[in-house]
Amino acid sequence: MESTSALNWRSELVSKLAHVMPEFEAIAHVPMIEEIRTLKAARRAVIVAHSYQVPLITAGIADFTGDSLAMARFAARTTADTIVVCGVRFMAETAKLLSPSRTVLLPASDAGCSLAESITAADVRALRRRHPGVPVVAYVNTSAAVKAEADICCTSANAVEVVESLASPRVILLPDRYLASFVAERVACEVIAWPGTCEVHQRFSAEDIRGYQGTEVRVLAHPECPPEVQAASDFVGSTSAMIDYLRRVPPGRVLLLTECSMADNVRLARPDLQFERPCNLCRHMKSVTLQKVRDALDSGQLAIDIEPQIAERARRPLQGMIGL
Ligand code: 13P
Ligand code: SF4
Repeated sequence: MESTSALNWRSELVSKLAHVMPEFEAIAHVPMIEEIRTLKAARRAVIVAHSYQVPLITAGIADFTGDSLAMARFAARTTADTIVVCGVRFMAETAKLLSPSRTVLLPASDAGCSLAESITAADVRALRRRHPGVPVVAYVNTSAAVKAEADICCTSANAVEVVESLASPRVILLPDRYLASFVAERVACEVIAWPGTCEVHQRFSAEDIRGYQGTEVRVLAHPECPPEVQAASDFVGSTSAMIDYLRRVPPGRVLLLTECSMADNVRLARPDLQFERPCNLCRHMKSVTLQKVRDALDSGQLAIDIEPQIAERARRPLQGMIGL
């Protein structure tokens, strides 16, 4: 005989998901979600998800959903035995670096990121030779090997604060060129950029916004969007900054220039907001599925393992960021 609370979570989940998908579809996923919840408890695991994950993951199985900064902070303080990261590799590596004694599982082992792939540790060393004495800030969207070459890390939520904290006349901020120009406009120092881009956000153009300008539609853009997109938007901010902004707006129409699942996740809490297109999908984020999470929890495979010498050096800039 099932307890009332066990029955309740299912019906509560289905009615929540009904804001973003047909009810029959949500119901069809309940058995898999239930299996994952059971495996999670058996492994003393927590599931941490990025806001670009689909609601079946964020609302269905995640213990925590947030931006890359909040995910890192969550990983640093959890006491669970296992952390399952529903996100991409750099997020799982960050969790492992900040929580080295835990097992960190990345269910979609091939989930990369165009930014992380745009720069190598050798590139950072060459930048340092070209700009001697200039501190290096690495976006968390980088490999552990690149972080190991940096002075401090940042995310899009704290990049301005991190750059300012260095109190240096010149700062290298890598690898996203558009985040670097966003920061350069808000700090007093010179920002030296690297020509990396996010394959999802760089696709937005000012053309995408044109039809919405001068209408009641609120346009929000991520700082990884090209500068002309940022300039034409009502608000530019990280995923967490967008969520905070939308928490305060009255019901109405919104255009979110970022990954498509953001709109669905905001809608779970704010069904009175209507989201316009376009949005873009991140193929890396979308390679995480309920089935892969189930399999990772069941087998305990796909654990993140970082070479100890790199891990030791990569942890320092991350801890510097978390400590700010
Ligand atoms: P946030 O730091 O805003 O979560 O963004 C991470 C990311 O991958 C954006 O594309
Ligand atoms: Fe990387 Fe862009 Fe995907 Fe974020 S949205 S994980 S920056 S490719």
